[in-house]
Amino acid sequence: MIVLLTGGTGYIGSHVCVELLNSGHDVVIADNLSNSKIGVVERINKIAGNSSVVFRKLDLRDYESLELVFHEFQFDAVMHFAGYKAVGESVYCPLKYYENNVQGSINLLKAMLKYNVKRIVFSSSATVYGMSEDVPFHEYSPLNAVNPYGRTKFFIEEILRDFQTANKDVMVCILRYFNPVGAHKSGLIGEDPTGIPNNLMPFIVHVAAGEQKKLSIFGSDYSTPDGTCVRDYIHVADLALGHTLALEKHKQDSGCFVYNLGRGKGISVLQMVRTFQKVNGIMIDYEFSERREGDIAVSYAANTKAYSVLGWKPENTLEDMCRDSWRWYKNSKLMKL
Ligand code: WQD
Repeated sequence: MIVLLTGGTGYIGSHVCVELLNSGHDVVIADNLSNSKIGVVERINKIAGNSSVVFRKLDLRDYESLELVFHEFQFDAVMHFAGYKAVGESVYCPLKYYENNVQGSINLLKAMLKYNVKRIVFSSSATVYGMSEDVPFHEYSPLNAVNPYGRTKFFIEEILRDFQTANKDVMVCILRYFNPVGAHKSGLIGEDPTGIPNNLMPFIVHVAAGEQKKLSIFGSDYSTPDGTCVRDYIHVADLALGHTLALEKHKQDSGCFVYNLGRGKGISVLQMVRTFQKVNGIMIDYEFSERREGDIAVSYAANTKAYSVLGWKPENTLEDMCRDSWRWYKNSKLMKL
């Protein structure tokens, strides 16, 4: 199949691109490079060997340019990753998030309709489950996004449902990620945050590298075994595999399908820190600080649906996530990225 990846030079998109190329698909990446670098394209091609990805610099808010790409290629499917994803930033500039994430998605669906593209896999997030304490989260758990970023994911999911209801022969697959971490085993692609990292693993890596003095652990008084927050960390390579399995499974279907992509294991912040120290032999200095606004105590997936329907079995361990994150960081410095 010819697959369009919006946001394909980003963290998740680049790893899915490698999986798609390795599965024999042709891939076109459309990305505005607002949160990624063009050098990823060359490194994706290096990993994928003889197949190569096509790149088009494109902003989904520019409908005319988007149409040109749909006119140039006869896409069989779209995987939609493009979107801003910083929870904290979304609170301070919600319109930026709604215009980019929601309007961009509407433009994408308009182009798909006009050019008769019938399949879309959407990069959603466990953030749509909100602050519920009723864990693990199932695909049928109530949705209650509590920040503008999470609400853009929720709204786009609803727009996709309505779009599929109005266009019965369309296949929509919604994948709800828990906490993606890690990097491709080659060390050539990985998470490459600009500025001071928001997320836990990139911050731990920056402390290990001496770029940050110490890790602030946001809250040590949660009702969890060690008092720190619990999350469902999933290796980005396992996440990428979930996308190709979903597309393969549903490529002849019509309807709307939703899957949680998480390991189904809750890991605390302290457990992550200790695992990183053990695996990489590096001490991570940390202090306990105030809770972070908007954090929930525990979030982890019920992932049996992806397992039973897609045959998806996440195999990477927490040790793999820590080892691969650190390898990627060291390589990215060697490659002067
Ligand atoms: C994990 C845990 C923090 C940094 C968010 C989005 C989600 C997805 C992943 C986009 C929390 C703690 C963190 C630090 C810390 N993003 N922490 N010190 O908030 O679970 O999920 O990122 O798709 O949609 O909601 O991930 O990595 O920010 O935090 O103590 O310096 O680590 O409190 O408990 P989060 P995170």
